[in-house]
Amino acid sequence: MHITAVKGFNDILPAETPTRQFIEETARQVFGRFGFSEIRVPVLEKTELFCRSIGDTTDIVEKEMYTFCDKGGDSLTLRPEGTAGVMRALIEHKLYAQDNVNKLYYMGPMFRHERPQKGRYRQFHQIGAEVTGAGDPFVDAQVLLMLSRLFRELGLDEPRLQINSLGCPDCRPAYRDALVSFLGQRQELLCDDCRRRQSGNPLRALDCKAPGCIEATREAPAILEHLCGDCHDHFQAVQSYLNVAGVPFGINNRMVRGLDYYTRTTFELVTSLLGAQSAVAAGGRYDGLVSQLGGPAVPGIGFALGVERVALLLGDRCRPRTPDLFVALAGEESRRPVFQLVAALQDCGLWVETDVEGKSVKSQMRRADRLGARYSMVIGENELAAGSAALKRMADGSSRQAPLVASAVAPLLAE
Ligand code: HAM
Repeated sequence: MHITAVKGFNDILPAETPTRQFIEETARQVFGRFGFSEIRVPVLEKTELFCRSIGDTTDIVEKEMYTFCDKGGDSLTLRPEGTAGVMRALIEHKLYAQDNVNKLYYMGPMFRHERPQKGRYRQFHQIGAEVTGAGDPFVDAQVLLMLSRLFRELGLDEPRLQINSLGCPDCRPAYRDALVSFLGQRQELLCDDCRRRQSGNPLRALDCKAPGCIEATREAPAILEHLCGDCHDHFQAVQSYLNVAGVPFGINNRMVRGLDYYTRTTFELVTSLLGAQSAVAAGGRYDGLVSQLGGPAVPGIGFALGVERVALLLGDRCRPRTPDLFVALAGEESRRPVFQLVAALQDCGLWVETDVEGKSVKSQMRRADRLGARYSMVIGENELAAGSAALKRMADGSSRQAPLVASAVAPLLAE
């Protein structure tokens, strides 16, 4: 029996990597323009980091983490998201002391034991960005502007931005109480999870997909009507900056993120094109997280996008690269001069393929076709004696004579 990959853990095959590279390169370019630097943190962290940041009563911590005891008896977890590890690194290396404001981005695999389906995997990839040290609504809007620019440069206008505010430790408790007493009268409609979470995490009922919870929360009090003055002003200011920058958005006052660290602004980029997996990117402000993890009282805001979901939206827009030239060998005596010519053309920055299997010219040309080579050339005894060969453009079959030196062939391939 052969060994297969673990369920929900996917190979990313060569045909799929151009799309991934396009997403990553576009993100690097856009983030660079906004002054973000890359940080790389481990995929494995102490379990306690995620319990303390994401929250003990969230689905992620309760049900989805890959947690195990290592040989030393420590409880370790494969990171289910990137923010906690980046904040741990910020505190551990005192990055906040080197600069008040830190703008960091990261990309890499995350792990959640969810039920795999289209757009939802157990190993998936996120590209995330975090700003710490600035609580001003200007920064919220800048982060959202950067996210919207990224999608614009990816050529995607579909995901729509939805925003909400979850308030702060001053105003959320009163809202929570109002919601708990509202839900208390509708207990029988709630699913088991939401009933159990009444004391720890009642807000989750607002975006629970169970029909009973949707019914029970239909008339639920809205968080936006319970914001304190500061949170209200903050949310208004974010909206006015977004309007100034021309970033379209909608307000979704039922948006409750699946992680507990959020305060004030939260947001999601949603699409209807991916079935049940509607969030392509998501994030928000987390002003209490750094101090909660033992660092100073430094505010923060950020987001992460799901690379697989963005790749699904892009479809097959990113074509794989194809060779510039295929050099077919007609006879063994061509091998050394062709080796030399190919090496010189590669030094000019060109992708040149040749035969490595000792096949007939006909079958080499079939391979050139299959690879999608733009040009081909057959080199044998006659071409070597003449010092030139026919350079054929594969698209239309037209050909012209080219001297067998890289400096002469390279400019012809650029045409
Ligand atoms: P999140 O909403 O849990 O937030 O995940 C962000 C994005 O990751 C989602 O919108 C989705 O596109 C993608 N994603 C999540 N789970 C899966 C999965 N199982 N398979 C495929 N894609 C998935 C966070 O992780 C926060 N750390 C975001 C953040 C950064 N907030 C502040 N800073």
